[in-house]
Amino acid sequence: MSSINYSEKIPNNVNLVSDRTLQRALEHWQPQFLQWWGEMGPTDFLGADVYLRTAVSVDAEGWAQYGAVKMPDYRWGIFLADPVAERKIGFGDAMGQPAWQQVPGEYRSTLRRLIVTQGDTEPASVEQQRLLGHTCPSLYDLRNLFQINVEEGRHLWAMVYLLHAYFGRDGREEAEELLGRHSGDTDKPRILTTFNEPISDWLSLFCFTYFTDRDGKYQLKSLAESAFDPLSRTCRFMLTEEAHHMFVGETGLSRVVKRTLEVMKEIGTDDPAKVRAAGAVDLPLLQKYLNFWCSSSLDLFGNEISSNSAANFASGLKGRPDETTYDDHVLREKTFTLKVPQGEETVPMLNALNEVMRESYLKDCEIGLKRWNRQIERAGHAFRLTLPSSRFRRSIGPWTGLPVDPQGNLLDKSIYEKKLNEWIPSQADRAFVHSLMQRVIEPGKMAGWIAPPERGINNLAIEYEYVKLH
Ligand SMILES: [Fe+2]
Ligand SMILES: [Fe+2]
Repeated sequence: MSSINYSEKIPNNVNLVSDRTLQRALEHWQPQFLQWWGEMGPTDFLGADVYLRTAVSVDAEGWAQYGAVKMPDYRWGIFLADPVAERKIGFGDAMGQPAWQQVPGEYRSTLRRLIVTQGDTEPASVEQQRLLGHTCPSLYDLRNLFQINVEEGRHLWAMVYLLHAYFGRDGREEAEELLGRHSGDTDKPRILTTFNEPISDWLSLFCFTYFTDRDGKYQLKSLAESAFDPLSRTCRFMLTEEAHHMFVGETGLSRVVKRTLEVMKEIGTDDPAKVRAAGAVDLPLLQKYLNFWCSSSLDLFGNEISSNSAANFASGLKGRPDETTYDDHVLREKTFTLKVPQGEETVPMLNALNEVMRESYLKDCEIGLKRWNRQIERAGHAFRLTLPSSRFRRSIGPWTGLPVDPQGNLLDKSIYEKKLNEWIPSQADRAFVHSLMQRVIEPGKMAGWIAPPERGINNLAIEYEYVKLH
């Protein structure tokens, strides 16, 4: 059941060959996808041999096969986790009823919207990262970037399959639109703001994969709970791919911290200006990048008080990540008290689920910070990295546009404006980070601002030539 058929034009484990109409529709979309990849994917690396993993089965063990692949030849396809026999809806008002194998008419447009919104982020991130290959700190990192890029491309396939298979003509039109919008485009931008922010340096990439891909993990986890079983199965397999993206973020930032601490030791000072002069990312600068990308990603969870989140949960479309770990799966009786600028507000729990998700996301984000702070502590420094308050720099919800500092305190607007440059990267900070982005492509060598990884990919040496550029 879980093996993937690679003999077909579109690799899949959904028995695509049995549905000729669907197969034809997807085969019609495939060249448009490849054209998009050629125009909007990683620039100038179409001929490079990249040591990539490809899914061979959807089991937890051994789903991947590794080998040198030119990215345009990557076998993008449709892979769903195996069905759970007689799966029941796990939350909401229809809890306990059989999961849906088709889309109920009354939820059609809402489900389509959820799938399109998720799907839009996947190609968006490829577009955001398309120039980074030119400034890679090592071949190891370059390979990781391209692995993420091809997998985000596959995530687009995952959502396009659902649109084509379950939403008829509307779905096919939405699938075309997913290639028509572009990150940062003034006329046709991507749907969510974070996915229109340029990612033009590797420090931003590591922050993006740490914070924004982790939002992706939470969205996928909540959709994996969905009563709509094909969506659940799709998202469950996507989560296994997503784990690598966050690995890249977490280890990337660990390596930055490690290198910075080495440089501080070499030059015998933690003076940020001297650390910069020695070619490393000073810790206060790293804190600014964390503040920027964390706060930007927090908006992706939506408004603190949301009737959509209530409706999506009650109807079984979207659960909470790890729904089974909660006691109450209906939530009709519960309330939630949250901080708003006027004080506190108590709302029905169903309406506060975005906030519930945001809080568990922030807890997950803490894990990396603890690790990095242990590195800093062991090196004998008092500096500690922190996450910004979820009220800082928000563009959605009751804290929108309010002058709040990273600790969550409301300030005078004039003070806030003066201090903002101390909390998020200034132009000068960004220019400095850009100046560090010198391409290193000698196998095993690393740029001066980042330490080598602890190990290579798939048990290979760090010196392995992960990308053959020719
Ligand atoms: Fe993704
Ligand atoms: Fe991702």
